Amino acid sequence: MNLTIVGTGYVGLVTGTCFSEMGNNVTCIDIDKNKIENLKKGNIPIFEPGLERMVLKNIENNCLHFSTKLEEGLSKAEIVFIAVGTPMGEDGSADLQYVLEVAKQLGKEMQNPLIVVDKSTVPVGTGDRVKAVIEEELIKRGVNIEFSVVSNPEFLKEGAAVQDFMKPDRIVLGADSDNAFEKMKDLYSPFTHNHDRIITMDVRSAEMTKYVANAMLATKISFMNEIANICELVDADVNQVRIGIGSDSRIGYSFIYPGSGYGGSCFPKDVKALQKTAEERGYDADLIASVEQVNNRQKMVIANKVIDRFGDDLTGKSFALWGLAFKPGTDDMREAPAIYTVNELVRRGAEIKAYDPKAMGESKSYYLKDVKKITYYKSKYETLLNADAMLLLTEWKEFRSPDFEELKSQMKTPIIFDGRNQYSNLKLESKGFEYYQIGKKSKSINV
Ligand SMILES: NC(=O)c1ccc[n+]([C@@H]2O[C@H](COP(=O)([O-])OP(=O)(O)OC[C@H]3O[C@@H](n4cnc5c(N)ncnc54)[C@H](O)[C@@H]3O)[C@@H](O)[C@H]2O)c1
Repeated sequence: MNLTIVGTGYVGLVTGTCFSEMGNNVTCIDIDKNKIENLKKGNIPIFEPGLERMVLKNIENNCLHFSTKLEEGLSKAEIVFIAVGTPMGEDGSADLQYVLEVAKQLGKEMQNPLIVVDKSTVPVGTGDRVKAVIEEELIKRGVNIEFSVVSNPEFLKEGAAVQDFMKPDRIVLGADSDNAFEKMKDLYSPFTHNHDRIITMDVRSAEMTKYVANAMLATKISFMNEIANICELVDADVNQVRIGIGSDSRIGYSFIYPGSGYGGSCFPKDVKALQKTAEERGYDADLIASVEQVNNRQKMVIANKVIDRFGDDLTGKSFALWGLAFKPGTDDMREAPAIYTVNELVRRGAEIKAYDPKAMGESKSYYLKDVKKITYYKSKYETLLNADAMLLLTEWKEFRSPDFEELKSQMKTPIIFDGRNQYSNLKLESKGFEYYQIGKKSKSINV
């Protein structure tokens, strides 16, 4: 099939590339000229396992094209995906300006019957708005071209995006025409051939499904973080509690690790947007509002532990920080707990020596670019020299079993603050470390 993807960001690039891998002819459009020029040369703007190899292969096979001009993609396209950003607006609702701008352009430029697919995460009712905007433009042009609007929310996870797209748990399709359902099912059939993973529904329900999935996951995270904080106060071990409750098949083990709060491009804005959607209809979504509140507090959990241990004034203290990305497998730092931790510690006079396998470029150029007292190192061990403590903030695999003797020999004091969403069973206390985890009391040692 001939496909056009409008918006070549995280979702657009992965979507376009994976469809081209299945033999479709795909054109990815973006307004960012730099990004498109780089992609044409095979330079990939994000780190995502397996993506680069697939992009290069499909450019070479002439299945994957990049352009800044929508009309180049539209001339042959049967299906066009809208995959532009829907960032949080000033009032917390999803900012739809990019989606609606694309709809307007489509209405101005489409020549042939088209299926317009909302892949961006958009609030309930956006499908209707997209349809209305396109119709308005067609009327202005005095033409009558058949089109339908489909909602096909994306559930990929950064760090495993290609794998998630190629082997999805489910494909949600919301549409109001049999023809649109049939075309979309054909398109997705190579991804579902060992069993049917396609779930069909009306457009509004599909739009809602995406927000509810993210809000549910965020709720599990905030719930467990709250439980961790209570466990700490009552001297219970949250890790044992986690195992105790996860064994109940109604609860399950996934997404119940305590940590330093959720970040990334989706959960924070989607939780807020769902709350806003309810509010606009006169309903106070108290539970969803609390999920966000608990998360905001949790992002400071490691900074607070450091302050409890070293005092309010951190002048002259130096901390080795391992992990800047909001989760492993990505260089994405949007809403990462590391941002909040670093800013708070530096504000109190500390110096940070940081290492991350992928996100240091993002940190330097954008997220922590104004922070003077942070230095980046090419090797994780180099950050440790004379450090008063080490902070672990991202669950990168390479941080799981470091050389503890090396750690101790480099650090001024063997103290570790662990804010990862996982539990270490390395018994660090018995290795001579003062070890702080989320949801567990730690005994200080005299150093
Ligand atoms: N990143 C994720 O993990 C993820 C997962 C599922 C769903 N989503 C949703 O998918 C959508 C896209 O997210 P993303 O992370 O890929 O965003 P992104 O910011 O990485 O990419 C968006 C791209 O759209 C481009 N763009 C904006 N206006 C345009 C226009 N008029 N024409 C062409 N291109 C335009 C931007 O230049 C940018 O490259 C959002 O709604 C997001 O919530 C994201």
